[in-house]
Amino acid sequence: MKIVICYFSGTGNTQRVAQQFSESFAQLGNEVQTFSIEGMTLCKSLPDDILKQIADCDLFGIGYPVYAFNAPPIALQFAKRLPRSVSAKRTFVFNTSGEPLKLNNISSLKLRALLKRKRFVVSNEYHYCMPYNIMFRHSDEMAHKMWDTAQKLIPLDSKQIVDGQQHLLKRVFCGHFVAWVMRCEQWGGQLNGRMYKVSKECVHCNMCVNNCPTHNIRVTKKGKFRFGGKCLMCMRCAHLCPKNAMKIGLFNRWKVNGPYTFAQPKTDSEKQRYNKMLTNSYKKYFDEAEQRLKNN
Ligand SMILES: Cc1cc2nc3c(=O)[nH]c(=O)nc-3n(C[C@H](O)[C@H](O)[C@H](O)COP(=O)(O)O)c2cc1C
Repeated sequence: MKIVICYFSGTGNTQRVAQQFSESFAQLGNEVQTFSIEGMTLCKSLPDDILKQIADCDLFGIGYPVYAFNAPPIALQFAKRLPRSVSAKRTFVFNTSGEPLKLNNISSLKLRALLKRKRFVVSNEYHYCMPYNIMFRHSDEMAHKMWDTAQKLIPLDSKQIVDGQQHLLKRVFCGHFVAWVMRCEQWGGQLNGRMYKVSKECVHCNMCVNNCPTHNIRVTKKGKFRFGGKCLMCMRCAHLCPKNAMKIGLFNRWKVNGPYTFAQPKTDSEKQRYNKMLTNSYKKYFDEAEQRLKNN
């Protein structure tokens, strides 16, 4: 089977998941192509080679990080630019989020509606809990546990997709309405993006400028940073900054700086830190995953 996976990832979590899907499908004997959709939506139409790959594939997958219980605008723009498929195209959706909340299940509603219009029929949908890139920093041990769980679940989920077993996430009461209200984050994010500032700790490494997915950050000839109105709030600039110099406007209190190591806990104190973070919702997520792994 020919499979094409397209994804957006701000700080690497969704990219990890997309790559794991790609490896798992390949191990099952499929031909897999994986693309980041970054940059694709800057032009009016999607690149011809990508469109050809999507038109020729038997199964299409799209992945994104959950932003305020929605898919990020870049994923929605991508779906809008997909041409209508000649015949119904089997599609799966996956997402990552910092919290294993049921409410995150509504994040795909708009995306799925857009895909449906293009005859991309979503038969499978999966959610993976991955460390927060805003709100608060998960301990590296917790991040390890999340990634380890996703890595074990994805091969099962890939098999389920290949075997043609449908899997859709449970709908939430008034989900469409809640998702619609929460989409205010999208323009709120653009406004907030204009309030970003760079503190004096900045060493002008230009990591933020060179890695912004919408090219929203530029530096003037005098070395001043300018932020445009296309911010996705993906947090990559804040996450990558080696000097923690990026101030992310109204959300600065919730900033998470520096990559996760995804390291396994070694000492007892590290394990305790992990246990402290293990609130009921995370515990339920890990228990359900373990149960599923045991049954397979
Ligand atoms: C602007 C923004 C909004 C977010 N909203 C949610 C949310 O509604 N629910 C949630 O569980 N996580 C939320 N998160 C956390 C991310 O979904 C999570 O960290 C994700 O794994 C990041 O993926 P990435 O590294 O591929 O960008 C949000 C993150 C950002 C930056």
